[in-house]
Amino acid sequence: MDHFLYRDGILHAEDVALPEIAAAVGTPFYVYSTATLARHFQLFEEALGWTDHLVCFAIKSNSNLAVLKVLGDLGAGMDVVSGGEYRRARAAGVPGERVVFSGVGKTREEIAYVLEHGIRQFNVESEPELLAISDIASAMGVTAPIALRVNPDVDAKTHEKIATGKSENKFGIPIAKARAVYAEAASLPGIEVVGIDVHIGSQLTDLTPFEAAFLKVRELTEALRADGHDIRRLDLGGGLGIPYERSNSAPPLPIEYGEVIRGTVGDLGCEIEIEPGRLISGNAGLLVSSVIYLKQGEGRDFLILDAAMNDLVRPSMYNAHHDIVPVVEPAPGTEAAPYDIVGPVCETGDTFAKGRPLTPLGPGDLVAFRSAGAYGAVMASEYNSRPLIPEVLVKGSEFAVIRARPSFEEMLSRDTIPEWL
Ligand code: LLP
Repeated sequence: MDHFLYRDGILHAEDVALPEIAAAVGTPFYVYSTATLARHFQLFEEALGWTDHLVCFAIKSNSNLAVLKVLGDLGAGMDVVSGGEYRRARAAGVPGERVVFSGVGKTREEIAYVLEHGIRQFNVESEPELLAISDIASAMGVTAPIALRVNPDVDAKTHEKIATGKSENKFGIPIAKARAVYAEAASLPGIEVVGIDVHIGSQLTDLTPFEAAFLKVRELTEALRADGHDIRRLDLGGGLGIPYERSNSAPPLPIEYGEVIRGTVGDLGCEIEIEPGRLISGNAGLLVSSVIYLKQGEGRDFLILDAAMNDLVRPSMYNAHHDIVPVVEPAPGTEAAPYDIVGPVCETGDTFAKGRPLTPLGPGDLVAFRSAGAYGAVMASEYNSRPLIPEVLVKGSEFAVIRARPSFEEMLSRDTIPEWL
């Protein structure tokens, strides 16, 4: 459930009509609903209510400081994968002890910065990284809490570009090698083993792969405890999928996911961490765009929008589906016609949907892309020198620009022409 509903035929974000925001900030723009963010976070809180836990929002899905503040104020932890994301978590007021640091390529600078400013745990993805953390922490005279991210070799049954838990993926330490690496970790200075980490992929719509992975983590917990390690935390990653197509059957709910966790590792006495991104932010955001032209092609009609692949790359990158709806509800009985919905960028890949049935629209009409709050704004670029689009946050009847659209001057001013040219 989200808080983007039609009222009197106009799509609203909570109590704000989208045309009002469009008039204030221009199109295209992203808009997020505070109530939806909060609700999705609470669903995970409830799903893990039976145990000690920390829900760490995966910042990579939506890293706007205002969004992080909404979640941080509700008690969320944060999962970060770079020094930049770490700084965002802290700038949003989240204490270091609620931040976990994941990622295969943490640099020495990032490790040192995070150790200096406070961290709950490093999710370590390789032996060289483990050695680097030990080296840096001992030089600084501190101890780094770590979990090893294990690769359980489980097929997440999702898009190949976002599956991470198969042995051929770059992520984690092969689970078969884990005991040896834990033994090494325990012998290293500046390292404290606190738990195990696993993350098998994103947009999972079936709980079976989670169950398989968590059972492997369970086995490993028992083996590591027998080896003398104090495994007291399990970070089970993110990945629960969302319904991108309203017409399709719904993916499992957080409460069902929580039951899988309880059924697989719930009796181990470990604190449970999870790192959901998409399920919290995805359906809490829309991308709102205007029609520029309606162009009649050979046997097809192109709806040319002012949003493009640089603003929302998921359709061209993963062939992802986003529902696209008119902001002003069509009169009952209006017939839909198929459109190819495209942006102005000069590549054929700048296509959001092909042959998508929509009721007739014309220049200036507004459309909204649903489920655009995750991996939308964060993956945007300025390709074709299109400035990044603004982000807006709604709370009840209030809205605020939480990232302004840069002017062309600002965009150009970042380049420098050397004086010797
Ligand atoms: N934890 C780790 C270690 C991750 O790598 C990810 C996502 C998450 C948590 C959060 O997963 P989520 O709950 O959001 O599924 N750009 C792609 C998705 C990439 C996901 C990368 N890792 C997309 O637009 O579909």
